[in-house]
Amino acid sequence: METARDGQTLNLTQENSAAVVLARMNNCSDPRFRQIMTSIVTHLHAAVKEIRPTQEEWFDAIQFLTRTGQLCTDTRQEWILLSDVLGVSMLVDAINHQKPSGATETTVLGPFYVSGAPERALGENICLDGKGMPVVVSGRVTGIDGRPIAGAALDVWMTNEDGFYDVQQPGIQPNMNLRGLFHAGDDGRYWFRAAKPRFYPIPGDGTVGSLLERSGRHNFRPGHLHFIVSAPGYESITTHYFDRKSPYLDSDAVFGVKETLIIDFEDHNDPKRAATLGVDNPFATVTMNFVLVPSPSQTR
Ligand code: BEZ
Ligand code: FE
Repeated sequence: METARDGQTLNLTQENSAAVVLARMNNCSDPRFRQIMTSIVTHLHAAVKEIRPTQEEWFDAIQFLTRTGQLCTDTRQEWILLSDVLGVSMLVDAINHQKPSGATETTVLGPFYVSGAPERALGENICLDGKGMPVVVSGRVTGIDGRPIAGAALDVWMTNEDGFYDVQQPGIQPNMNLRGLFHAGDDGRYWFRAAKPRFYPIPGDGTVGSLLERSGRHNFRPGHLHFIVSAPGYESITTHYFDRKSPYLDSDAVFGVKETLIIDFEDHNDPKRAATLGVDNPFATVTMNFVLVPSPSQTR
């Protein structure tokens, strides 16, 4: 039998648990926070009632979350990884980035973005370890009206031939390997040299790796290059372009692939052209165009 003291329910039961917790928020003065917490408490209690965990299972869950936090460092973000493999990062992306047709679509940021990549001149080679097949990446940044966006910034990052980002291999890869900040020319065009991306595993040695394994899932991502493209007056986009020939396109561990972000790399065996472009032969080329939409303040 429940007892009321000062209008609060004393006994929390299976039947009233969510309501009892929510009633404690009556003094919450932030409506958005209250809405968020109401939803989380309601769904969490419903899930626990459905699962009916044993004490041991609940403690296992607490330990999983504890370990996930403990794995986070300046260069490793296990929480982002967890959000990614559960499809939540892409869900948040879908909610927030509904683009008009023709605009470049967005996808996950992932845990390996590093702000402050070195500014590089157009044409520079970001592959500092010399590994992998050279690729010449070029393209244009335009508005949805097709007009070039002069000076658009392209922040680029990718794994090396061994499937690791520089921050995963300090002392092994050169600092800032396969990262760079480029600015498009007045015609919106840009180009740079890099290494052809390969599929690679996301970190499997932590809590997310064990969750994937227990779920019967692999931890691979198809080959891709990451970009954040931005320009004053336009919405920035965080996106990738994926190699159409890469394995795992249809089973990306983090659900990041969208049809419009899959493109063709062209392989070449042409020593003369390689020399002109300043790459070793054989090499690949790829065109990656970006279409940005004006930021809301520009369209009002
Ligand atoms: C990445 O592509 O860098 C990435 C994205 C999500 C999780 C792990 C890695
Ligand atoms: Fe990546």
